Amino acid sequence: MNSFFCQIPKAELHIHIEGSLEPEMMFALAARNNIQLPYKSVEEIRAAYNFQNLQSFLDLYYAGMSVLQTEQDFYDLTWAYMQKASAQNVRHAEIFFDPQGHTSRGVSFETVHRGIYRALQEAQQLGISSYLILCFLRHLSAESAMEALEQALPYKDTIPAVGLDSSEVGNPPSKFQKVFDKAREEGFLTVAHAGEEGPPEYIWEAINLLGVSRIDHGVRCIDDPKLLEYLIEKQIPLTVCPLSNIKLCVFDSMAKHNIKQLLDMGLCVTVNSDDPSYFGGYVAENLQEIESALSLSQQDIYKLVKNSFQATFLSAAEKQARIAELDEFMMK
Ligand code: HPA
Ligand code: ZN
Repeated sequence: MNSFFCQIPKAELHIHIEGSLEPEMMFALAARNNIQLPYKSVEEIRAAYNFQNLQSFLDLYYAGMSVLQTEQDFYDLTWAYMQKASAQNVRHAEIFFDPQGHTSRGVSFETVHRGIYRALQEAQQLGISSYLILCFLRHLSAESAMEALEQALPYKDTIPAVGLDSSEVGNPPSKFQKVFDKAREEGFLTVAHAGEEGPPEYIWEAINLLGVSRIDHGVRCIDDPKLLEYLIEKQIPLTVCPLSNIKLCVFDSMAKHNIKQLLDMGLCVTVNSDDPSYFGGYVAENLQEIESALSLSQQDIYKLVKNSFQATFLSAAEKQARIAELDEFMMK
């Protein structure tokens, strides 16, 4: 790993905390909780990470999270990610969690939230600020999402936003319009995965029906010139995840990724890791991979990282402070 990509101050805006579960921890937690895994070794787990599309990944992702049972498990998972992020000089992280992936297995919302949130609070000592984003699983019903939202209400001071993830095609944003209406009424900001495998229409729906502040992935906006124009004009950020897109065959190779094209057109694109344990890299590795595959300049990297701060839910003053730190780093 080139130290520049580790050291440059950055924000991470698209990380599923359950997707940071490394095989070593999966084994340790399985042993601690007396759970039998269908793998004999860490190497066997890593070898299974060969995906054809989003669904083939999600099947393993949901199976993997079954080892997360206690508050301590969620704490350990989150603390490990925050240490990794700290080593890569992530200065602010906005972190997704999937409560329905746990409550459906009999783990309470409170257990999940307490473990994750305690680790985030303690990570402030590492110099990383963070926000939590509750994601609704879109392959489940709108009623189930509404239930998850109700469960989150007592904790809403600690969860600034809600999002939408899981199987995209066939589960358009419109399915969750009422849930997102209620979430916005309750004061949550909103984001949504859209245009990863799904069409540009899903991105329009996320904007027009869910009132999102950012689009997660969004790379298929390239197929709709009017949408591109709109995203540029409004500077609606896209949280792009290059290694994820290659692992899930959204693009055939990194050389064919459109992030440089989107950046050059003037979209507010950012670089993120999605599910770093499953896709082979954290945010620094994502930056390094696109730099070499797409011949990015230092100015391109600067712009992507500056966008990451601009696209956060931090206050204007907090954004400014972190961008000033970035500017100082670039002058060294
Ligand atoms: N897309 C949709 N759902 C997800 C993803 C993703 O990339 N990662 C974890 N859940
Ligand atoms: Zn994602």
